[in-house]
Amino acid sequence: MTGKFAGSGAGLCIFVVVLALFVSQAPSVDAQLDQNYYVGTCPNVENLVNQWLVANVFTDPTGPAALVRLVFHDCQVNGCDGSVLLDTQPGAVSELESDANFGIRDLRFIDSIKAAVELACPGVVSCTDILALAARDCVRLTGGPSIRIPLGRKDGRSASNLAADRQLPPSDISVPAFLSEFAQMGMTADEAVAIIGAHTIGVGHCVNVVNRLFPQQDPALSPLMAGQLLTQCPTPNAAFLNNNTILSNDFTNFVFDNQYYRDVMNGNGLFKIDSLIGQNPTTAGIVARFAANQNDFFGVFSRAFVKMTSFRVLTGAQGEVRRNCHRLN
Ligand code: HEM
Ligand SMILES: *[C@@H]1O[C@H](CO)[C@@H](O)[C@H](O)[C@H]1NC(C)=O
Repeated sequence: MTGKFAGSGAGLCIFVVVLALFVSQAPSVDAQLDQNYYVGTCPNVENLVNQWLVANVFTDPTGPAALVRLVFHDCQVNGCDGSVLLDTQPGAVSELESDANFGIRDLRFIDSIKAAVELACPGVVSCTDILALAARDCVRLTGGPSIRIPLGRKDGRSASNLAADRQLPPSDISVPAFLSEFAQMGMTADEAVAIIGAHTIGVGHCVNVVNRLFPQQDPALSPLMAGQLLTQCPTPNAAFLNNNTILSNDFTNFVFDNQYYRDVMNGNGLFKIDSLIGQNPTTAGIVARFAANQNDFFGVFSRAFVKMTSFRVLTGAQGEVRRNCHRLN
């Protein structure tokens, strides 16, 4: 309202404001995510998410890791749309029915944050945005980079355990397949190697590791690591495995640092793919680079995180803002 409109009558002013509101709310075919998306509708949302996490997320010491894996599994299956949060209901089969989601937990944290946000701004902030914000805060709260992410994702209206089976990568995925998964999200090889560096925090379970021990031991495992894993996971038979046994993703698995890459180089990567990126000629040099330089890792991880959390998002008139993250509206 400057320049040629300055000094014109109040009537014109109101007309222009109303027109601007109308235009900004009209569904747009190429609506995009925007760092200021909630400035007018829920300006405090980022603080609310952060405050809840600071006060509560460490009630599960690996809570931050659980939420970082959760956002990956949301985005990897048909894009970031909150589908991983849905219970089974007409139109959706819970993705948690898929074995590929073994170990996923702490969805209740997202429910609590959603409740706090709904109190402040009812019906405005999507579950998938809350999950993306929570995960990026968890990276910072465990010592990793502070990442600005654009907002405005809408929640999807379906979920499928079969889609989760098909689209979530297995722990022994090959390096070329790993690279092409993340290339779909627009990532370069160094960004793919950086994003899996999220394995610097959290835990795994025997079901995802016994493929490195039986029928024969993976020669990439250091003797120390092989011995430890054999003690914890003594049988390949899932029916006899203790699914409560937890394995550290890296030697400093409560801290988001670059220790993961040094572990990978020393034969101490936990999953098959962790080892493989240390051996493949396309990725080994990138692993060595991040092992030597944490700032380099943090910078590339931050870019990759924005790409992952922008993958195939619903925006504008697509999807909905779920009132309850477990149910379609
Ligand atoms: C090809 C790529 C990937 C594969 C094959 C893979 C595989 C796995 C597996 C098998 C587990 C352990 C599950 C369990 O046994 O409980 C795991 C845990 C984890 N993953 Fe990945 N992952 C990949 C990429 C990613 C990405 C991109 C992220 C996040 C940006 C991520 C974050 C995590 C975290 C934080 C954990 C620990 C979760 C916890 O403590 O419960 N992963 N991953
Ligand atoms: C452990 O989990 C796997 C995979 O979900 C399952 O097949 C197996 O029966 C479980 N084992 C036990 C002892 O509960």
